[in-house]
Amino acid sequence: MKQIEEYVRSIEDFPEEGIIFRDVTSVLQDADGLHLAIDLMQEKLKELDFDIVVGPESRGFIFGVPIAYNLHKPFVPIRKKGKLPCETIGIKYDLEYGSAELEMHRDAIKPGQKVVIIDDLIATGGTNEAMVKLVEGLGGVVVKAVFLMELAGLKGRERLKGYDVESVICYPGK
Ligand code: PRP
Ligand code: MG
Repeated sequence: MKQIEEYVRSIEDFPEEGIIFRDVTSVLQDADGLHLAIDLMQEKLKELDFDIVVGPESRGFIFGVPIAYNLHKPFVPIRKKGKLPCETIGIKYDLEYGSAELEMHRDAIKPGQKVVIIDDLIATGGTNEAMVKLVEGLGGVVVKAVFLMELAGLKGRERLKGYDVESVICYPGK
């Protein structure tokens, strides 16, 4: 059986020179790769007591929904600004290449609910830090964040000190 790392295609000098882009589409377009990715991420939640899975548009949806479905938990989407129809809470944050704004419905999380964050990648940690702030802004408690991939050289974890952060594949570089 192939290891999960073998399903990730790496593209050098994309989107900028010196950056190695870790492409998740090569995992998704292989049935075994997709199964393995979901299973290994889900494994990190074994025996964890939580109420809700939260994931950000767009790659967070790909992994968050199947995990929520398998574990019979609700899924709450965090969306890019202007997409959600009801009352929202929003946050501006910095990306590796620019800045953006994320929003979540205000009624999506009740105070005290235990939240797991799922995304494909932690790079600078900016997206995850923004999601933590949104969840906590509604009184939710982030009990864990799980990523398929981590670019350890960008030190995203340092923005999330005190939180339980796990990744399936950890690349030492950027
Ligand atoms: C990518 C990736 C993570 C985030 C990680 O999303 O899917 O969500 O960047 O980077 P960070 O740790 O430096 O914040 P992106 O914002 O490119 O959008 P997408 O998921 O819609 O492709
Ligand atoms: Mg993303």
